Order: sequence, then structure tokens, then C-alpha cells
Amino acid sequence: MSILNNRPGLEAVINDVAEVTGYLWQKGWAERNGGNITVNVTEFADASWATMPAIAPVKQIGMVLPYLKGKYFYAKGTGKRMRDLAKQPMQNGSIIRICDDCSSYEIIADEPVMPTSELPSHLALQNYLLETGSQYKATLHTHPIELVAMSHIQRFLKGDEMTRVLWSMIPETLAFAPLGIGIVPYGLPGSVELAEATLEQIKTHDVVLWEKHGTVAVGQDIMDAFDQTDVLCKAANIYMCARSMGSEPDGMTEEAMKEVQDVFKLPKQRPC
Ligand code: 13P
Ligand code: ZN
Repeated sequence: MSILNNRPGLEAVINDVAEVTGYLWQKGWAERNGGNITVNVTEFADASWATMPAIAPVKQIGMVLPYLKGKYFYAKGTGKRMRDLAKQPMQNGSIIRICDDCSSYEIIADEPVMPTSELPSHLALQNYLLETGSQYKATLHTHPIELVAMSHIQRFLKGDEMTRVLWSMIPETLAFAPLGIGIVPYGLPGSVELAEATLEQIKTHDVVLWEKHGTVAVGQDIMDAFDQTDVLCKAANIYMCARSMGSEPDGMTEEAMKEVQDVFKLPKQRPC
């Protein structure tokens, strides 16, 4: 029996995850097992969850994350394909419980599917979201082609250059990603160092770009985290299309961008 049974709210969240993983595959952002997701599902936990036995040995996270004590997350399984998850989310991911030491976790449902290798990054962000009282529940790592391609070009990695170029492609980018994209220099996938660097960047940006690897986004739900990534990747795609027509695109002027910022009263800090 699945933990989703008789829990329509939880089932709806997992169905949203499955829908988004289908989009990731269709967009070409999810080759093989590329990308991963976590969603905080603690709001659906009733008293029975606390006594559910672990179905796999306790594993270390590699970090101490005090705000995650006793919290529950859905996590994509390591090595699992997004396109398989789209069809069978509970066979390609699992629900984990963070142990009382705040540095380890155990799987409680449905099957002993080991969580993603990028769990340190996802849980570091989840810890930060809870610490700051954010309503955001979802984290998404994926491999969006155009953004990863731009991360191979040094000039885009310096300061806010990538954000400036992306914002200037279409007003919606600035409107929906007003904090822009933060850059994390290349780091070993799955490492605690990568997680720590990602955490620093997400504090001041909508989406984080891992140099020569992929993006990490947070959102109220998984659809929101997907949209954040999609908005920025669309701008990168427009930039590349213009370049392939033979010249550097003009981009919106500084004045036009300032006008959008002012008229739409865009936030300059991460809202909770
Ligand atoms: P997992 O299969 O462990 O989730 O890894 C995929 C990935 O994109 C690593 O960065
Ligand atoms: Zn990856």
C-alpha cells in the first residue's frame, strides 16, 4: 500500500512532481538520470508517520541542518530517470524522514529508493527556507541546455553579467526573476562544498547556475521552481537565437529595464 493512499493532498503534490518531470524530459534538460527534486511534504504527515519504520539503513547527509529535524521530504531517487518518474513517481523516488541528530535521514515510504546524490544541496536549501520562515517547499536541479552552454563562456560568469544579459532579452525575465541568476564556480556533483556555495547564492538570487553543470531553483511548489528555471532558460535561448543570426543582440536598454523594475515594484530581496 502506498503512503499516498487516502492522502489526496500529498497525492496531488506528487502528481505535480510527475507532471514537471515530464516537462524536463521533453525540454531535453533531463538526459538519462539528469536532475533531481525534493519537496517538503511535512504538512501531510499525521501521527502515524513518526512511528513508521525505516525501510533502509540510516544514511548521513554530510551536513548538520537544524531546521530539518523530524521533517519529511519527497526526493527523486539517485540514478532514476525523470521520464520514468513521470509515470511512476513512487517507484523512482521516496519519502525520507530527517533524524533527530539533524544530520542523517531514513526512508519511510514507499520503497527503499535511495535519494538523489545531490541531497546535500537540496536539503541545505530546504533548511534555509525553513530557517527564514519561507513558504517555499520545492527545490529543483536540472540541466537546461542554453544556460549550461552560457556557463562555458567566461564573460558570463563574472559579476552580474549573465543576469544583465538575460534580463535584457525580454521584459518578463526581469519581472519573474527579479533577483537574477547566481553563479557557483564548477564543483564536484553531490559534494558538500557545492551545497554550501549554492546556499550562499540562493540567498540573493532566484536561481543558481552551477558552472558547466546545471541550475538549482526553489519555489512554492515544484511547478513554481520549474517556471523560475524556464523563464531564465527562455531568455538564454533568445540570446542564442539572436547570436545565431550573426550578431550580438542589442538587448533592452538600462532605462527600459529600470522602468520595468519601478513600474512593477520588483523585489530586490528574496520574499518569504
Ligand atoms: P542523481 O541521479 O543522483 O539525482 O544525479 C543526477 C544529477 O543531475 C547529479 O547532478
Ligand atoms: Zn546534475
